[in-house]
Amino acid sequence: MQLPTSANKKALVIGASSGIGLETARLLVQRGYRVAITGRRADRLEALQTEDPEHYIVCPFDLTDPEAEAHLEAAVQRLGSVQVIVLCSGTGDFNPDLDYRIEAQTNRLNIDAFTRTADWSYRTLKAQGGGHFVAITSVMGLRGSGAAPAYAASKAYQINYLQGLQQRAAHETVPLYITDIRPGSVQTDMMKGKGHFWITSPQEAARYILHAIERRKTVQYVSPRWRVIGLLLQHLPGWLHRKM
Ligand SMILES: NC(=O)c1ccc[n+]([C@@H]2O[C@H](COP(=O)([O-])OP(=O)(O)OC[C@H]3O[C@@H](n4cnc5c(N)ncnc54)[C@H](OP(=O)(O)O)[C@@H]3O)[C@@H](O)[C@H]2O)c1
Repeated sequence: MQLPTSANKKALVIGASSGIGLETARLLVQRGYRVAITGRRADRLEALQTEDPEHYIVCPFDLTDPEAEAHLEAAVQRLGSVQVIVLCSGTGDFNPDLDYRIEAQTNRLNIDAFTRTADWSYRTLKAQGGGHFVAITSVMGLRGSGAAPAYAASKAYQINYLQGLQQRAAHETVPLYITDIRPGSVQTDMMKGKGHFWITSPQEAARYILHAIERRKTVQYVSPRWRVIGLLLQHLPGWLHRKM
């Protein structure tokens, strides 16, 4: 995978305190980007900044905060401009007892905050004359899940929402690119439970994300072979899916 250096470019990575977002921020910095990094855990963001203080800007805040847009604006102001926005913040859990609190927490971040952040990103990049918005969805968004119903449904919402933004972007007079990153299993804090396979490291996931940015891809499976599982999930007969 060839990734050219991108001197003077600026990026905002939302949810960079761990996992896929952290490694994506790291790789962007290695590629010459100046990167604003967000998340609630300021200590984690500050630790990342120590690796290259010139290239990271630490902006800790909760994306579900009603004032989140003001925090995002402030991050871009500190960067000066932004060409790439990567939305990695996400949550979800198994919910064996169908506890609404788990589902509500998932919906607050993966649906409400996602929508606000996606709209803000689109408007911000458009106002600057173009750019690239990348969001991490999931292969799980391609079919309902009895084990984690809100998580799978919220990821389906995200996939559909990004398709809507891609359709809008095709009609804009400025170049706007929207990429849906669909991971299968990535070795991060979020990977819970047993029986995982085709596991990708967060470093490798970040390389696929950079690849998708450089190629302006609409959808990138992480890793690419998860496309097969995606197709299976979409085409599996209902009776078989219900038995799984
Ligand atoms: N790992 C996998 O196997 C996998 C598979 C498919 C999709 N994904 C998706 O990949 C994305 C990244 O997850 P990950 O695997 O890298 O897990 P992770 O290490 O747990 O990262 C989640 C990120 O989201 C941030 N976040 C959580 N709640 C937040 C909030 N209220 N406000 C702001 N930021 C918040 C976290 O930062 P703070 O806690 O510091 O706020 C952290 O930076 C998620 O959307 C996830 O659904 C992961």
